[in-house]
Amino acid sequence: MKILVFGSFNIDKVYSMPRLPERGETLYCRGYEVHVGGKGLNQALAFSYAGADVIAAGKVGADGRYLTDYLEKNNIDISEIDYSGEYTGHTIIETDPDGQNQMILFGGANREITREYCDALLAKHSGADLILMQYETTCVEYMLEKARSLGLKTALNPSPYVDELRSIDYSNADILILNEYEAQSVTGRESPEDCVKALRELGSRVIILTLGAKGSVYYDGGEPVYCPAFRVNAVDTTGAGDTFTGYCLYELLAGAPPYDALRFGSAASALEVAKPGAAETIPSRAEVESFLEKNR
Ligand code: RIB
Repeated sequence: MKILVFGSFNIDKVYSMPRLPERGETLYCRGYEVHVGGKGLNQALAFSYAGADVIAAGKVGADGRYLTDYLEKNNIDISEIDYSGEYTGHTIIETDPDGQNQMILFGGANREITREYCDALLAKHSGADLILMQYETTCVEYMLEKARSLGLKTALNPSPYVDELRSIDYSNADILILNEYEAQSVTGRESPEDCVKALRELGSRVIILTLGAKGSVYYDGGEPVYCPAFRVNAVDTTGAGDTFTGYCLYELLAGAPPYDALRFGSAASALEVAKPGAAETIPSRAEVESFLEKNR
């Protein structure tokens, strides 16, 4: 299975806090670490660990070589990642002892994607099985429309939520994979049932909605399929959605029934949140399979 992951590559600067700071407050952190990250990088890794051949596409600055080295070391094709004169994107992530976080995102090179870049990428890779994208780079809407017009299957993770996402053309997304907050923000609806139906009315054919501790839902216009979450002690939820996305989509594309694909994605993200970090804590396929075996 050949997957094109078009997305962001960030340096994650992670601060462990005794609690998240209030407005105007200065707080000492308990620890500081630098990790590889970005939704594109995390999803590329998760898809690859699940079993796909992944081509990563996007932009980094000269300070981002260690991100591309990390991807390459993990068997991801980095030949479509361009270098830009801008700094690499970075994220300041504050985590609290309950595993909750808040982030500041600097887009950097991720925001330098041009239509020309998208055209050149698609000219070479329109034969892939899927293009997966998130919302941290520029030109996402253009890429979606263009990819679909070339007959390439598209998956969009509209994350992080920005107001522009209320008005994009969702009919260009074959699969929409998002969390509850994003779904509520896009649709203005409250319940998961109302959200998935409203998202389908906006044009996406398949909706996959994650609900944190409440599990996940798959909806393609038939009966919604619900899957409960695994109960885990979350240490750091950064990257949980990306891990779910890569594993769940791989399983679906490989022909698994929706419930099984949701369960696979949930198991992978349950393992990911049990350790601090994002990309480096995405579990291997063997770890996910063994977790599922133990939790049958
Ligand atoms: O989804 C998690 C990712 O979001 C982090 O790695 C961070 O870089 C932000 O992009």
